[in-house]
Amino acid sequence: MNALELSGIAVRFGGNEVLKGVDLAIGPGFTGLIGPNGAGKTTVFNVVTGYVRPVAGSVRIAGEPIPSARPAVVARRGVRRTFQTPRLVAELSVEANVLAGLDAELTRGGGLADFLGISRKSRAARERARELLDAFGLADRAAEPVGNLPLGSQKIVEVARALAPQPRVVLLDEPAAGLSAADVDRMVAPLAEIGERDELSILIIEHDLELVSRLCPRVAALHFGRILADGTPAEVVAHPDVVKAYLGAGVATVDS
Ligand SMILES: Nc1ncnc2c1ncn2[C@@H]1O[C@H](COP(=O)(O)OP(=O)(O)OP(=O)(O)O)[C@@H](O)[C@H]1O
Ligand SMILES: [Mg+2]
Repeated sequence: MNALELSGIAVRFGGNEVLKGVDLAIGPGFTGLIGPNGAGKTTVFNVVTGYVRPVAGSVRIAGEPIPSARPAVVARRGVRRTFQTPRLVAELSVEANVLAGLDAELTRGGGLADFLGISRKSRAARERARELLDAFGLADRAAEPVGNLPLGSQKIVEVARALAPQPRVVLLDEPAAGLSAADVDRMVAPLAEIGERDELSILIIEHDLELVSRLCPRVAALHFGRILADGTPAEVVAHPDVVKAYLGAGVATVDS
């Protein structure tokens, strides 16, 4: 069964048809989502996470349909994301930002039993946050305001926050954009390890086609709201429609 399945997703903003019947199914491991600027990639994430209501189509998580435009329901079903520009609380500590990924879990319920459950959970939560910060080499900065960290580290903190609640599906929106090669390695190595251990399904939007080819056995290319090609990175970057889309957008393709 697929962890995440989109069928026939259509999105319109005013008169602008931004997604035109997108079908995409992802299972465990990394799947890449590529495409020129404005193709509709982030909109796919916004539909899955319930922030944009499609005019047609459906989203299934682990085979179960999800009601459209209900972010809390999607989060409870184990879907987490990062943003193209990190959305962290700058003045809170690195650890607090990672813990925020668990908030929905921690703040549910209200009675005494729930309260006791919550305090147990919150110990577990801190351990989980520590474990993630260790894995990403950020344990020594746990108490620092996250706003003090360089962009590369902030983007890594956002990935750690997304992983905190042990999700089943993780959506990463251009995680490597603006990062040095060293920062990309600091992010990707632990992510790949945790992803494999926890059998995560990771959908990654990325313009760096070399990184996509390295990470993703499977890639889908989106252009003007349509999936042009879906297959191995070598197949997709060599697909004539994809080459045309990238040349039209003035972006060079990689050698495959
Ligand atoms: N909330 C919105 N209201 C109106 N138009 C929107 C909205 N969100 C996105 N769009 C438009 O939808 C199209 C697709 O945008 P989207 O952000 O999904 O593209 P993208 O593939 O993520 O691009 P990029 O690579 O630049 O991040 C663009 O033309 C964008 O201007
Ligand atoms: Mg985008």
